[in-house]
Amino acid sequence: MGFFDGKQKNSTPSDAAAKLHIGSGDKRLEGWVNIDLLPLPGVDAVADVTQGLDYRDCEVVFAEHFLEHLAVDDALNFLLECHRVLAPGGWLRLSTPNLDWVWDTHYRVEAPAEEKRLMAMRLNRAFHAWGHQFLWNRQILGEALEACGFDEVRWCTYGESELPVLQGLERHETYGDDPRLTHVLIVEGRKSTAGSQRLQKLRARLAEEFLNHLDG
Ligand SMILES: C[S@@+](CC[C@H](N)C(=O)[O-])C[C@H]1O[C@@H](n2cnc3c(N)ncnc32)[C@H](O)[C@@H]1O
Repeated sequence: MGFFDGKQKNSTPSDAAAKLHIGSGDKRLEGWVNIDLLPLPGVDAVADVTQGLDYRDCEVVFAEHFLEHLAVDDALNFLLECHRVLAPGGWLRLSTPNLDWVWDTHYRVEAPAEEKRLMAMRLNRAFHAWGHQFLWNRQILGEALEACGFDEVRWCTYGESELPVLQGLERHETYGDDPRLTHVLIVEGRKSTAGSQRLQKLRARLAEEFLNHLDG
């Protein structure tokens, strides 16, 4: 795992950056600091963000199809780190696969046997492939954001935001989404004060219901 513990790093931030694009891959956003683990074309800073973010006073942080690549405890620490590097009142926007959509579209108990063989593989692929570590639904992602100190949490549609700086950012395929059940969750939250008790509770529940069971 090797994540920092979500507390402020000792090093001096190397940059005051306005807009961070995390796990940018090759989807560079002009005018943003595009950060990725891999030195892909368009990446400005190669960094493992599980080691913390060397930035401060950011206006916004954006990550598309990234959160699900972190183990859930690392993901919580990442949210805390986003909170830390944002300026007061700064905003975080995330887009991540929607567990409700995966469940609804990948598996039907009443399907014919042959179809169910394929569905079993596809459902497992959604959980395990592409480096996925944890798939989120609204309930747990909303709770995590609030526990990590974000308020005004709001669910958004693809490319749309009340804030001009967060409009038109998503690049991923929309798969002809039904607006009632989109394949991604897109959410924004504003930096507020962290609620440490809520976070402790969430961490404890995640440990009890999930993390403690991973080692067999
Ligand atoms: C599924 S890709 C998404 C890329 C792009 N955001 C997009 O929507 O197409 C996930 C990206 O996150 C990057 N990534 C995964 N773990 C990371 C980490 N710990 N620190 C920084 N980047 C990471 C990967 O290298 C990859 O480029």
